[in-house]
Amino acid sequence: MSAPVELTHALEARAYTDPMVFDAECAGLLARTWQFAGHAAEVEKPGDYFTFEIAGQNLFCIRGRDNEIRAFYNVCQHRAHELVDGTGNAKVLVCPYHAWTYELTGQLRSGPNVKAIEGFDRSTVCLTEVQVEVFHGFIFVNLDPDAAPMDDWFPGARDALAAFVPDIDRLRPLEWVEIPEHCNWKVSIENYSECYHCQLNHPTFASGVVKPETYDIQPDGYCLRHTTECQNLDRMTYPIDLAANAHAGEYSSWFLWPLFSFQVYPGNVLNTYHWRPVDVDRVTVWRGWYTVDGVDSEVIRRLAVQDRATTVEEDIHLVESVQRGLKSRGYKPGPLVIDPKCGVMSEHSIKVLHGWMRAAIDGA
Ligand code: FES
Ligand SMILES: [Fe+2]
Repeated sequence: MSAPVELTHALEARAYTDPMVFDAECAGLLARTWQFAGHAAEVEKPGDYFTFEIAGQNLFCIRGRDNEIRAFYNVCQHRAHELVDGTGNAKVLVCPYHAWTYELTGQLRSGPNVKAIEGFDRSTVCLTEVQVEVFHGFIFVNLDPDAAPMDDWFPGARDALAAFVPDIDRLRPLEWVEIPEHCNWKVSIENYSECYHCQLNHPTFASGVVKPETYDIQPDGYCLRHTTECQNLDRMTYPIDLAANAHAGEYSSWFLWPLFSFQVYPGNVLNTYHWRPVDVDRVTVWRGWYTVDGVDSEVIRRLAVQDRATTVEEDIHLVESVQRGLKSRGYKPGPLVIDPKCGVMSEHSIKVLHGWMRAAIDGA
């Protein structure tokens, strides 16, 4: 008789409902992983900046005169007033409180009457910088100064993505779609990371975009890579040119733990997911759609509308129901469906995610 197999159970409900777990994730996980900040097109010229928030921290990103893109905590080093607001362009950064002035590199340049401070050396004052990587024009930051580079976290993703989207470095955002969901961010991430629910819940995606029977999801470092073939051309909901390049007939996505995904629809159409946790039971998902040089495209706009009306809308109902269910006293975490052959009817990718989530919760 063979030894009994140990079942893999889902995470306990409190991981998704306890505000203390959420606070620990903000202070721990989100502060030491690579987080999407914005697109390089938003800081095209020297001095262009935009503010953003990660794990409750207010930050801003700015392009320097040397064309470097930098990111800083949005706080003056004098008495903590916020330096900038929204978006804009600045020659130097002037704090609105007492007019201390900083270079675009973050270095303090001057301040009214600071010369009067005995023993003060202004060259010792600089805004607090955070790590930045520009990943095919997508700006990511990491609040952990010792974090390993993205290529270590997501091996091979940069090159593979460029092979799927040959013009990726020329893309600019065309559409942003904001989707508020009443669920914990992990519920939404898990829903994105398995296609066991696709055939039942996503008829348009499963019959008009991809072939679910070819779907699989495999980890590579902290990346979950989705791969599948496109639907037969006569069933596709939008036109694609299979001859355009080697990957035109495939669907693939690179989910970069914990809150971002590059997704390539058949026809080399890049779109992105950015999950922004709001509190323990709310997350906002930002969908981004792009075209070369930002040129308008009726096909892409229609695809964005179709995606919002079908896959996204269908998922909202699923994840919000799960969040209500996680609060039920009648729920005990069930076994994951782990098929040793993997494939679309298996939840092996959820097992991987749960491993990362448990490590984040325990180590937070
Ligand atoms: S707080 Fe910024 S100049 Fe005083
Ligand atoms: Fe889904």
